[in-house]
Amino acid sequence: MIINTSVSVGAKTPFRMIHVSDTHFTLADSRDNSDKNRIATKRRHIFPHSEAVRDTAVRLSGELGCPIIHTGDHYDFLSHPNLEEVHRFVTENDVLYAAGNHDFSHYLGEETENEEYKLRSYREVQSLHKNNIRTDSRVICGVNFVVLDDSYFQFHPDHVKFLLGEAEKGLPMVLLYHKPVACRELLAFAEEKGRVGCLVCPPESCFDGKDEEWIAERRPDEVTLEVAELINSLPQVKCIINGHMHENFTCLTDTGVPLILTANDTVRVIEFT
Ligand SMILES: [Fe+2]
Repeated sequence: MIINTSVSVGAKTPFRMIHVSDTHFTLADSRDNSDKNRIATKRRHIFPHSEAVRDTAVRLSGELGCPIIHTGDHYDFLSHPNLEEVHRFVTENDVLYAAGNHDFSHYLGEETENEEYKLRSYREVQSLHKNNIRTDSRVICGVNFVVLDDSYFQFHPDHVKFLLGEAEKGLPMVLLYHKPVACRELLAFAEEKGRVGCLVCPPESCFDGKDEEWIAERRPDEVTLEVAELINSLPQVKCIINGHMHENFTCLTDTGVPLILTANDTVRVIEFT
């Protein structure tokens, strides 16, 4: 599915970008152990659109002459062919990539996924990418595209200084990160879909009745609250682009900033004006 979206951010001249997210390639081969191959077989049918979405994004990027934004989970779990796939995708195309939780996952939920877990594969994963997947920025037609990493529900201490530094450039900013920060309209949508657990900084009421592990993973730390506050208050932030929910959704955040989520079966062509 291809969706066209237009968003006014104060670009010097109008331009387009392709947005895809959560392609979840489920590749494994003889270089991977039997558990990885079992996971690949078990989960392949859940993500039948991986190749079509990638191929359509690549084709449109070429035809329209515009870069691709990928907001994480290009593959489902760490395997030899999945890592080769993402490396090929980001090196053969002009891609701005933000990390998703699956980018660091070995066996999908075999243990708690936290910063310590992420660091076991972070260096290897980062080495496959052209842009810094934790903090990066790139100016296109006077618009500053800023990459953050909240793949495990928390922002990183580096993000406060980094975001303030990017804001000081005085350019309109489009933020790219994997998991959406809760706002009223998105929360209502997530509740309808039974996906409240996808949101960063959910309201306190969302923790009622949840088990300790669920709460520990999602309760925002001080840094995450500070970054979320900056995202909602910096006047330079003109648009936010996320993935993770595997749903197409657009709304205005509580502070009136356009929020765009793209599903894993969709290629979104975004015109920035
Ligand atoms: Fe995903």
